[in-house]
Amino acid sequence: MEFLNTIFSPTANEAVVNLIYIFSSALFIIGLKMLGSPETAAKGNLISALGMLVAVVVTLLDQSVTNFQWIFLAMFLGAFIGAIAALKIEMTSMPEMVAIFNGFGGIASLLVGSSEHILSSTDSLGILIPIFLTVVIGGLTFTGSIIAYGKLSGRMNGNPILYKGQQWINGLLVLLLLFFGFEMIVNQGLVFTLNWQVLTAIICLSFLLGILLVIPIGGGDMPVVIALLNSYSGLAACAAGFVIQNNVLIVAGALVGASGLILTNIMCKAMNRSLANVLFSGFGAIVASGTSKGEQGEVRPIVTGDAYLILEAASSVAIVPGYGMAVAQAQHAVRELGELLEGNGTTVQYVIHPVAGRMPGHMNVLLAEANVPYDQLIEPGDINPIIESVDVCIVIGANDVVNPAAREDNESPIYGMPIIDVDKAITTFVLKRSMASGFAGIQNPLFFKTNTRMLFGDAKDSITALVSEFKS
Ligand code: TAP
Repeated sequence: MEFLNTIFSPTANEAVVNLIYIFSSALFIIGLKMLGSPETAAKGNLISALGMLVAVVVTLLDQSVTNFQWIFLAMFLGAFIGAIAALKIEMTSMPEMVAIFNGFGGIASLLVGSSEHILSSTDSLGILIPIFLTVVIGGLTFTGSIIAYGKLSGRMNGNPILYKGQQWINGLLVLLLLFFGFEMIVNQGLVFTLNWQVLTAIICLSFLLGILLVIPIGGGDMPVVIALLNSYSGLAACAAGFVIQNNVLIVAGALVGASGLILTNIMCKAMNRSLANVLFSGFGAIVASGTSKGEQGEVRPIVTGDAYLILEAASSVAIVPGYGMAVAQAQHAVRELGELLEGNGTTVQYVIHPVAGRMPGHMNVLLAEANVPYDQLIEPGDINPIIESVDVCIVIGANDVVNPAAREDNESPIYGMPIIDVDKAITTFVLKRSMASGFAGIQNPLFFKTNTRMLFGDAKDSITALVSEFKS
């Protein structure tokens, strides 16, 4: 303790604390880099968490912190609730858990900014501007995340809520926020004499804006919104770092803000849609009103026994999972089928489209849970150039991500979206329950191609039946 007291004496501590903060920041960055690959992701997560632990311990040892009893109580409660939630959550409910955690991040920053505004009564622009940003971004992240959580968990209807003058009302809210921001930062109490009055107005407007910005977005687009809100929660934390002048919070917030934006961008690109289209077009409502073309020819169903004979003779098989694999929870059966095919001398690869499913990395998470080897997972760009030589593509509950209309029909709502060209393989099996459309609500010409065979039924049942054929 003597040693710590020397290091953290008021004179020496600032430089040492900042040095350790740089070390923590380095751990965050190394951890983030490792999250880029499934093999290193778990270790990367631990390294980032270690960086945060170091930052928290150093901040607590910093002599300006005194109220340990409250901090320990809050840490214990937070860790307890977080651990229970993480242990109990189903893999398929991960997006809504991320949504609610983003919301907590936003409200935490809002509380930091608000308390600083009320307690310090500062008139420094360098602090008032970050306080305003912390409260606004934190507030709209909080309510926006709660709406995202409601839509994803089914507690709220996932359809976009659209009404006349929606953008004008949102614009008016932004103008009001700017007015109150001006009052807080520049006028400093000219119209509203008490700090809490202007603060309350900003908090209420931010809460309302968060709700109104997310309700027009359909449930299917929520993963993009969550990545964006994740980025906002980082920006709010970064602004809170400026408010309390804590360097590691500024760095951590900026890293979350930047990585959330990069993820949002990757998802938009993979859907060939702009962020504005995701946020303002009410995509779910457009497709529900029916842009799909009808039947486009003859459908050729196949039974499991015949599918088995073709697979048994195949030397290369590409498995393309989609949202239906998650619904059917077929990942373990899929891995078993993959192993049986390999045992039969077939080369097996799993082609993962970046937006297959309903959340980033949805298919990777499911296949990792089923212990599919990482080196068998490939991206569309790896297979498309050679897909004509693949004997069989097995499409498991995927639809939009294998829809050739994205390549061929310039009137299609998904025209231009990069897809997996399974229609060009020698034979393609499509496993789904009916001729129903996917997320985009449009017909899929793949189902009518002469080299496509439809294996109707629940994906898990169909794959299990194929596994049984191989075993008998
Ligand atoms: P979808 O196009 O949504 O198609 C899923 C298919 O699975 C449906 O056609 C459905 O047909 C079938 N299915 C459902 N339950 C099944 C079951 N139990 N057994 C067998 N099949 C089942 O899926 P996708 O190809 O993965 O594409 C994802 C879509 O979500 C894209 O449009 C993408 O833009 C959008 N999206 C994704 C994300 C992220 S981050 N992943 C974010 C926003 C939007 P049946 O009902 O006939 O069985």
